[in-house]
Amino acid sequence: MAGEPSSSYDGEQERAWGPAQPAAQRDDQLAAGYDVVDHLRRGHRLDVYDLWSVERSARCVGKTLRPERAGDEVAAGRLRTEGMLLETLTHPHLVRGYETVLTNERPRPLVVIETLPGRTVSYLLGEHGRLGAGDAAMLGAQLCSVLGYLHRHEWVHLDVKPANVVELAGRAVLLDLSMACRLGERSTGGTFDYLSPEQARGDPVSEAADVWGLGITLYEVVSGRTPWARHSHRDRGSGGTRRYPQLEERVPPLRARWRLPAALSGLVHDCLDPTPTARPTVGELSKRLVALSGVDPRTAER
Ligand SMILES: Nc1ncnc2c1ncn2[C@@H]1O[C@H](COP(=O)(O)OP(=O)(O)OP(=O)(O)O)[C@@H](O)[C@H]1O
Ligand SMILES: [Mg+2]
Repeated sequence: MAGEPSSSYDGEQERAWGPAQPAAQRDDQLAAGYDVVDHLRRGHRLDVYDLWSVERSARCVGKTLRPERAGDEVAAGRLRTEGMLLETLTHPHLVRGYETVLTNERPRPLVVIETLPGRTVSYLLGEHGRLGAGDAAMLGAQLCSVLGYLHRHEWVHLDVKPANVVELAGRAVLLDLSMACRLGERSTGGTFDYLSPEQARGDPVSEAADVWGLGITLYEVVSGRTPWARHSHRDRGSGGTRRYPQLEERVPPLRARWRLPAALSGLVHDCLDPTPTARPTVGELSKRLVALSGVDPRTAER
């Protein structure tokens, strides 16, 4: 459960929330029935904890707002939506939510989810540099399975990236519905390197925004870097002005030296067409990825 450098941005106007307040410590009771085992990660809005559930007598993960953001109604609303989705949607490639409760101090929603005892794909990329074509295709096919499921329930994830996927013995599990919105809504939320052009513009989003996120994820998985990795944070704008290379440039071609099957690099580039309607559908992508992986999910051994 390693910390991740690139955190998602919720697209809301930044405002000051006062000085940073410390996270809860080991053995603190964060909420009734939930004791802190460890503070895992602090993003700009959220704290993620390793928790002990007294009722379940088991470890779990909790996501809540940073204490100084207790009054941030927009972020609290997003967190409640994430909790509701993770508790009601059930899929083998989606993390499972147990319940949403309120923290004891500065009452904030605390989304309680199952602990996935694996590594994020971003951690694996840090360890191994990149993944082979077969593993990448299998990962992509599994992500198509869960993204298609979310879309059929009329939700778009909008933050598909290696840090939001945990690998558990060959099974990819998608995390983090904190940016999810309804099909057709406008959103500028997401993570800079993975943001589709329509998210960067704040246009209404469709399933195709997740196809873009999956395309960037696969690009990174097979090459070890995102297409925009060479842009420094300074280039990315400051003082409210953001520069989005995805609005100005086509994604640089995946280099031939990695000896990727042309069918795989072609598929990644098809996902990264600036025009959302020109990208393949999740169903089409799934067929192509399953064929490339050589593993039929209907008959594969478990
Ligand atoms: N259920 C879980 N099991 C194991 N690790 C988890 C779990 N949930 C979250 N993590 C770890 O915590 C990190 C942050 O969690 P998550 O992505 O849900 O929060 P976030 O603050 O919305 O993240 P970000 O802003 O980076 O997108 C994940 O990248 C992962 O390393
Ligand atoms: Mg995340």
